[in-house]
Amino acid sequence: MRSSSHVLPLGVLTALLLSQVCSGIKWLALSHVPASLHINQTQHCKLMPGMVSSQAQLCRSNLELMQTIIQAAREVKKTCQKTFSDMRWNCSSIDIPVDTPKYRPDLDRGTREAAFVYALSAATISHTIAQACTSGDLRLCSCGPIPAEIPEPGYRWGGCGDNLHYGLIMGSKFSDAPMKMKRAGSHANKLMHLHNSEVGRQVLREALVMKCKCHGVSGSCSIRTCWRGLQDLREIAMDLKTKYLSATKVVHRPMGTRKQLVPKDIDIRPVRENELVYLQSSPDFCAKNDKQGSAGTQGRQCNKTSSGSDSCDLMCCGRGYNPYTEKLVERCHCKYHWCCYVTCKKCERIVERYVCK
Ligand SMILES: *[C@@H]1O[C@H](CO)[C@@H](O)[C@H](O)[C@H]1NC(C)=O
Ligand SMILES: *[C@@H]1O[C@H](CO)[C@@H](O)[C@H](O)[C@H]1NC(C)=O
Ligand SMILES: *[C@@H]1O[C@H](CO)[C@@H](O)[C@H](O)[C@H]1NC(C)=O
Repeated sequence: MRSSSHVLPLGVLTALLLSQVCSGIKWLALSHVPASLHINQTQHCKLMPGMVSSQAQLCRSNLELMQTIIQAAREVKKTCQKTFSDMRWNCSSIDIPVDTPKYRPDLDRGTREAAFVYALSAATISHTIAQACTSGDLRLCSCGPIPAEIPEPGYRWGGCGDNLHYGLIMGSKFSDAPMKMKRAGSHANKLMHLHNSEVGRQVLREALVMKCKCHGVSGSCSIRTCWRGLQDLREIAMDLKTKYLSATKVVHRPMGTRKQLVPKDIDIRPVRENELVYLQSSPDFCAKNDKQGSAGTQGRQCNKTSSGSDSCDLMCCGRGYNPYTEKLVERCHCKYHWCCYVTCKKCERIVERYVCK
């Protein structure tokens, strides 16, 4: 017997359901903004999808930065999909549509995958801004500071370092904004997303390394000019993938005077600053289930000789796989001609590939 005396209209219900999840990565929908749109008027901020009010405010007050943030949204998508191309979950659910009603919030359910995406997003936005400062794309910032240490003999500071400081300030201001809103879903989710975003930024800080260029007579490298530059996003994403694989499940419970995230199974200790955390277990991603953000692995390519996550056994979840052949055209029998060119022939090679049933 149904006990409810009234039924909520569907629109209200959807709004209620959506308000319970904290959508901190909706701004990734910015990846759909056409590259041809030149953002130079505050009205353009209204055309930007997926932003909360404080992000729109940042857009209006710093139009120039917006182009870089849009570029970051594209980078997040590309990097996530590359990094997870050998996994059952291949980051397909990161493709956040422009029209909000169709948004599938599986990445906001507090899973391990969400932890990775939030960390990667936070790292990427700051990475992109830091490098935009260096390349002169932004007028409000320039090269990073010259390091205070005295360089070793044969080395000198020079060039233009990445402006990580500015990247971190502006990046976190933008990407953390949805989690800082008062009515933005559950406290637990917000804490989780903020924590993982900070882990992403921590990995980025560690990715600021010394880069040098050689000078001297005919490449003798008697003197090196060095600066602090960020490693490629790919490497940062690989670090975060390692953290994803060893992420810690947490629960939201009172610790001291406030409710905090604490590890679920392990000894009583606070959450560590360098670990990704999640609240909900993920499905196995074997079968298609849109609600859970699982595209399933049917039709995915697998590797018969690999013993890792891309092996046919693991990728296809025991369903088996179908072989097919692919013709590869490669350059071969290359000859060097004095001076200075190379000629090659084209060779065809048949390779066997496998896709999951
Ligand atoms: C904005 O950019 C477009 C395209 O580059 C240009 O045609 C237009 O004049 C610019 N508007 C302003 C206000 O600068
Ligand atoms: C991810 O997997 C799904 C399901 O097999 C597939 O349709 C999609 O093209 C894949 N996406 C990428 C980026 O590889
Ligand atoms: C399959 O896995 C093996 C072992 O890890 C690797 O050497 C090979 O390049 C992979 N093949 C493809 C097509 O990715």
